[in-house]
Amino acid sequence: MKTTNNNDITINHLNKEVELYGHVAKIRDLGGIKFIDLRDRSGIIQLVIGPNNNYYNISNTIKNEYVLKVKGIVIKRQSQNNAIATGEIEIDVTYLEILNTSIELPFNIDEKSNVLEETKLKYRYLELRQPTIKNNLILRDKVTHCVRNFLHDLNFIEIETPILSKSTPEGARDYLVPSRVSNGKFYALPQSPQLYKQLLMIGEMEKYYQIAKCFRDEDLRSDRQPEFTQIDIEMSYVTENDIINITENLLASIFKTVKGINIKLPFKKLTYQEAMNNYGTDKPDLRFEMPIYDITNIFANSSFKLFNNKVINCLVVKNNAHNFSRKKCEELEKLVKIYNVSNLLYLKYDNNLFSGSIIKNISSNEQEKLKKELNVANNDIIFIISDEYQTTKVSLGALRNHLGKILNLINEDDYCFLWVVDFPMFEYDKNDKRYYSIHHPFTMVKDKDIDKLTSNPSLCLSKSYDIVLNGYELGGGSIRIHNQEIQNKVFQTLSLSKEDIKNKFGFFTEALQYGTPPHGGIALGLERLVMLLAKTTNIKDVIAFPKTASAYCMMMETPSYVNENQLKELEISIKKQDNAKE
Ligand code: AMO
Repeated sequence: MKTTNNNDITINHLNKEVELYGHVAKIRDLGGIKFIDLRDRSGIIQLVIGPNNNYYNISNTIKNEYVLKVKGIVIKRQSQNNAIATGEIEIDVTYLEILNTSIELPFNIDEKSNVLEETKLKYRYLELRQPTIKNNLILRDKVTHCVRNFLHDLNFIEIETPILSKSTPEGARDYLVPSRVSNGKFYALPQSPQLYKQLLMIGEMEKYYQIAKCFRDEDLRSDRQPEFTQIDIEMSYVTENDIINITENLLASIFKTVKGINIKLPFKKLTYQEAMNNYGTDKPDLRFEMPIYDITNIFANSSFKLFNNKVINCLVVKNNAHNFSRKKCEELEKLVKIYNVSNLLYLKYDNNLFSGSIIKNISSNEQEKLKKELNVANNDIIFIISDEYQTTKVSLGALRNHLGKILNLINEDDYCFLWVVDFPMFEYDKNDKRYYSIHHPFTMVKDKDIDKLTSNPSLCLSKSYDIVLNGYELGGGSIRIHNQEIQNKVFQTLSLSKEDIKNKFGFFTEALQYGTPPHGGIALGLERLVMLLAKTTNIKDVIAFPKTASAYCMMMETPSYVNENQLKELEISIKKQDNAKE
């Protein structure tokens, strides 16, 4: 068995014999002496084989990525290499065995650029030999190890829940799995273990966690994969604050253990309404300020047609007016137009005067108020949007994020945590003419709003909380409904018929009646957490075998066709399967 890692060997091992295993990363021949970089999971170490060495002839046959077993004496290196951890020493080879050869690789392991993403994903097992992804996976292991230690110490137990499951209502499409035994019926892969963890509380497990695989068929983005992992937690007899405290301490423990960073507790809290008003999103990046200002009142008597009957909001960019040419402002307008905004207006302030194409529509009184209320100084620029409330906020929120990036307002070393609380229970969909849950249908309504569940659902707030880190939604959870009557009212508000409730959640509403303890929980996205710890913005970088944006695995070439017999057994026929393979 391999017991020594390359990076374990230091100057302290001088003159000792070591046994090493690994891949050949590089071979150099300098004046007849062979220098071989041997790479293992931990790093690189240099082997030296001189012309009089018994293994010299074998070393002549070695090529890149061959697999070696080596014994040798640790000696001091003549010229130190500070780029690697073992740069002070090298190994004078006393035994060499080629355990396996390798054909030529599709790309050089050291090559970072110039390799197409598709190629790297097709040969992901080779990309794993590069330090970046490898180190991210090592980091990920440290995080899960820390999670397990932390929660076990607090008397949580780890329980696995089924993967062959029933549709759960997290809002994405399900991945379905046909049943051979019960023909025509399907399992759904869990979008989260939500109902199982609540059933575990009914089953008196009291404190549960799981590093849980979840599956969602949804549009993929740089922070979303079709299968991902949650740190899933549920507890009985708790309040919102209990879960918030445990989550904060868990994250503090992870950051301390994995990164040596002391994060400051407690985290800041904003209500959903405050987050939307001030930052135009429920996951604001608070590493920089630049809040959205509401300037509707200043223009209460304005007859400017672009301000009519709408909310008027703005961002003030300090000391940067000179950097925003008309062309640049037009580019920014293109960006906000994605959110269906008709115009991005702007005013510059310099030499104690406002300027800009809309200035003739703004009275001197309004200019004075703007200057005072927004604390405007020379070389500031104000970006204004006037539209419906939601459109105005969301578009300015996106512009704020963009400006933060292009103006380098973000300190990449910062970790800015935030709780967003007091979410509305429901949102109304005008097209479908019905309410949808903002979190999920098992989220408890605030006590003061119970009466409004049927009379005025729009005004109900929920006992839910999201945790945000640097502009990413890291996790979310809630206190759950533990009373069947309230659960049924929520289902009714969501326009679920009695029949629907029985078919989809009959097992659950029945279970709620058998003495369900009050309970609540949270789920943190493991990949998003590791992504932020690893300082990458691409979720694929922290997953061993990720899928592409179209949920395709380049390496296994899946999803793929299955053979006729498999379909026959499932009594499934595919309408347009011209390419079915045997
Ligand atoms: P929610 O749906 O908010 O809550 O998910 C919790 C967290 O999981 C992560 N996440 C994802 N990560 C990568 N790819 C995805 N496609 C993806 N979807 C979600 C996010 C998110 O914040 N059952 C509830 C939790 C609860 O109430 O306890 C739930 O799943 O980081």
